[in-house]
Amino acid sequence: MSTADETLGALTKRQLENLCRVAGIDHSEPARLLGEALGAARDRPLARPPLWPSDVADDATPIEFSVQVDDGGDRHLRVLAETLPAEPGPAANLRAAQDLVASLAERYDLPLDRLRAVEDLFSPEEPDGTFSWWFSFIFDSAGPPRFKVYFNPDVRGPEEAPKLVEEAFNRLGLESAYPTVLDHAKRRESDRLTFFALDLDRSPQARVKLYVSQYDAGVEEVELAASAVPGIDRYQVGDFCRLLAPGTERFPGRPLVSSYSFVEGDREKPSNYSIYLPLRDYVPDDSVARQRVRRHLRDHRIDPELLDEVIGALTDRDLSAQPGMLAHVSLRLSPDRTGTTIYASSEAYGGTRT
Ligand code: TRP
Repeated sequence: MSTADETLGALTKRQLENLCRVAGIDHSEPARLLGEALGAARDRPLARPPLWPSDVADDATPIEFSVQVDDGGDRHLRVLAETLPAEPGPAANLRAAQDLVASLAERYDLPLDRLRAVEDLFSPEEPDGTFSWWFSFIFDSAGPPRFKVYFNPDVRGPEEAPKLVEEAFNRLGLESAYPTVLDHAKRRESDRLTFFALDLDRSPQARVKLYVSQYDAGVEEVELAASAVPGIDRYQVGDFCRLLAPGTERFPGRPLVSSYSFVEGDREKPSNYSIYLPLRDYVPDDSVARQRVRRHLRDHRIDPELLDEVIGALTDRDLSAQPGMLAHVSLRLSPDRTGTTIYASSEAYGGTRT
């Protein structure tokens, strides 16, 4: 869908505007925020290699789109982004992220108390790991955009990750959170803490979220992870995995990821659990991925047409050419609500290589 001298900013803006149309969202503010989030990568022609090997997407595109649908039908559109400065590097990227938070906080009057309480843990002078801070921008048909910051627990080296996460929970008054994670999702050597995230909003639903990548896990491990949340049906997690990756007993490629959200009042146990399945590693190509996701949507009484609209907003490529357009699918479970999120790649730099 791109032409030779098009820029990353122009392609992704077009894709985002198309997605806004699909989700029934006004596109002017999302498009502006996308440009800001891309930073120095925005005006770079796609003919040139990516400015930085961002891990947001497989092909180093520093953004990823996702469409979230509740079983009740509500839709949200999100952009996951890594902000890049003109001369990227671990320390410079972290500074660019901090600058972006400062300007967004001013413009949208964001509460930064929780971020301030933990940010030093995740902001060393010489950051390690694949990234320091990422963002997600969340758009609905009503209301201002919402923001989420992701910190990298490996930013001081993987050995420090457990200490950083435990300390961050403690500083936020969630002393029981880390033991719960250890008991349910981080039981094995190969369970790794991947993101510690904060919603930057004032609502009582503002979340503290922890993601655990469960390398080489099977369905039982993620069902056990889900069982940390009271009042949800853990077996839905197994059904989800079996539908999207039939015949896969263990997930040896990209890992299943479990996340927990803690909101105000969740002293002991998290109030929701999500499973993320890296679909692109468990399908031959996106046409098969599409079939499986359609089944899942139908089972949840969500109109499967939505999926074709999302794909059509981003690409007109032959879906059977390769996997990767549908990067992850996630299922969110809480006692009163269920939701599905489809993570869709821009493929600005060619998408997943297999
Ligand atoms: N690209 C990375 C990965 O696949 C990070 C990432 C982007 C991710 N979107 C995600 C991880 C959704 C889990 C879920 O791991």
